[in-house]
Amino acid sequence: MNLEELLTKAQSGEKLAMLTCYDATFSKLMEMAGVDILLVGDSLGMVLQGFDNTLQVSMAAMIYHTEMVARGCNQTFIMADMPYGSYENNPQLAYRNAAKLIAAGAHMVKLEGGGAMIETVNYLAKRDIPVCAHLGFTPQSVHQLGGYKIQGKTFQEAQQISNDAKLMSDAGASFVLLEMVPASLAKQITESVAIPTIGIGAGVDCSGQVLVLQDLLGIYTGVADKNPNDHKSPRFVKNFLTGTQSIQQAIVQYVQAVKNKTFPAAEHSY
Ligand code: KIV
Repeated sequence: MNLEELLTKAQSGEKLAMLTCYDATFSKLMEMAGVDILLVGDSLGMVLQGFDNTLQVSMAAMIYHTEMVARGCNQTFIMADMPYGSYENNPQLAYRNAAKLIAAGAHMVKLEGGGAMIETVNYLAKRDIPVCAHLGFTPQSVHQLGGYKIQGKTFQEAQQISNDAKLMSDAGASFVLLEMVPASLAKQITESVAIPTIGIGAGVDCSGQVLVLQDLLGIYTGVADKNPNDHKSPRFVKNFLTGTQSIQQAIVQYVQAVKNKTFPAAEHSY
């Protein structure tokens, strides 16, 4: 499915189901399960490489995993993360690195940040590189944000995120991804911006949802934790493997739950 078809789907009111995907086997499984967008997320630094954040993920790793994902599926839309340090400095650097991800098989790149990224998003979009702007909790800013915290709780923060979403849309972004923001804020943004929103910990009213594969399967215990039994999953995580017979079925159930709006429920939202 291409970008135009995805946008039409979102406009018709159908929710988009997105999942992180890092290799060819899961890429094929997810395509068969009807996942709309495969995200080669830099979360691979945590769930595959064992780091406790995403800051050490390299361009080489993102290219390697994007190539694998692209080989596994035939027609599913692939979004790839621009890793930390590969785009923030200037639009030209961003273009060179985004082009490598597109050459590796991605159809869109995702980058983190709002207002400071206007020029870069505009530069990429004008050169036909589709962009998703990641707002709210942005994992590459974990140190600046002081940890894994919900964003947009105060009036000022909410205004900032809402303005950033509009700026990103005006700059040419095709999607906005909202992570860990109050459901009411995500709803307001979804209703007011011209492009679809994808939520993770952002309530059911976004145009689509994304989860990290390992969270959906209930197998990520947080490698940095001293005692994995103490690992507490974020509120927005749901284990879809519980009560199903197979990984394939768990992914199908996730897709269905997104499409029929039973996921995320209030208990997964802020
Ligand atoms: O890298 C990733 O998996 C992400 C999701 C958390 C949206 O950006």
